[in-house]
Amino acid sequence: MKTTVNLTSHISHLECAVSKEKFDHRQVQTFCENEHEGWKAPLYAQYDFSQPVDKNILKTRESSLWRYFEFLPVLDPANVVTLGEGMTPLLSLNNLAETTGVNKLLLKDESLNPTGSFKARGQAVAVSKMKELGITKCIVPTAGNAGGALAAYCGKANIEVTVVMPKHTPEIFKQECRYFGAELILVDGLINDCGKLVARIKAEKGYFDVSTMKEPYRLEGKKTMGFEIAEQMNWQLPDVIFYPTGGGTGLIGLWKAFHEMKAAGWITGKFPKLIAVQTENCQPMVWSFEGKHQNAAHYQAKPSMANGLAVPSPFAERQIMEVLAESKGFAVSVTEDELLEGVKTLSKKEGLFVAPEGGALVPAMQKAIVNKWINRDETILLLNTGSGYKYAENLM
Ligand SMILES: Cc1ncc(COP(=O)(O)O)c(C=O)c1O
Repeated sequence: MKTTVNLTSHISHLECAVSKEKFDHRQVQTFCENEHEGWKAPLYAQYDFSQPVDKNILKTRESSLWRYFEFLPVLDPANVVTLGEGMTPLLSLNNLAETTGVNKLLLKDESLNPTGSFKARGQAVAVSKMKELGITKCIVPTAGNAGGALAAYCGKANIEVTVVMPKHTPEIFKQECRYFGAELILVDGLINDCGKLVARIKAEKGYFDVSTMKEPYRLEGKKTMGFEIAEQMNWQLPDVIFYPTGGGTGLIGLWKAFHEMKAAGWITGKFPKLIAVQTENCQPMVWSFEGKHQNAAHYQAKPSMANGLAVPSPFAERQIMEVLAESKGFAVSVTEDELLEGVKTLSKKEGLFVAPEGGALVPAMQKAIVNKWINRDETILLLNTGSGYKYAENLM
């Protein structure tokens, strides 16, 4: 790495999201649990903010997420495994702003990451940390993008990887895993069914489990979207962010980033409302938000053309709900037809062929405006998480 050679991570420890118990980041860690109380929760990396980091130093750094090295968990820059992830464009949606009457409408385009989605961020950091900790075999359940990204970075890092994916996922997601050298297992079901198989295989074979939020460092990569939004907006933040939510890593990561930047003295002022966007085919967080069920443990989902949104019972449900409450945001769902229209609108009006997950943000925003949950004077940011090019079969 060019600019990270003399850099030091300010990570101090990992902390349980629920009990606040501390864990050593120098050892392999997964998640925390309390069998007696019946909960499992993610571990969050914590940093020492007493050592100042001047944000102006970023001007000298390379154009990737590794520019925030002090607030990333890798200790030795030599362990960084990078394909150039991060520093994706922040675009103005002038045409859509005009037709919807929104004062300022922005889109962060994560489709330009390696392997075509924001999942590259999380896996770059997770794989770098695996390398640092000497992990040589790992496994992941995926809706598609996370598996492809993990396979790519593991290929580069010479780490063996098994990817477990729903059989109905578009062919390119399977093929990229094979090309990157992963073992690919297909399952007749959704990501939660893949997760059950992963639990069996990891117990038998001792593979490290890189499942969403059961591994602490994917979140650290994803949070850099929040750092970049602030930096690209000259250390201001938008009023509202619409985020396509499956396992919730991005949503939780954005919120973590805002708190960390405040602790570092990089930003002041109020944080954005975070809006979790789902599809009616799989809307467990909308149901939780609206109190339609106590939690998502038994939510019955259908597949979606936005494969990444088909997560029936997210591991970090409790933390997702906390972020929505703290940010004064909400959860909203759209139909499959509406999200397809959203893809078409962004293609035709803005020249962006987004993933269906990103397409869902357009009707979600329109719904929020019509219902006066947000208003047109606010600065609104749509976070497009992936590329439409990988979903050609779904978008026919
Ligand atoms: C394109 C895309 N968008 C959004 C998501 C949901 O991600 P998160 O776990 O951050 O909610 C996924 C997950 O697979 C995805 O692939």
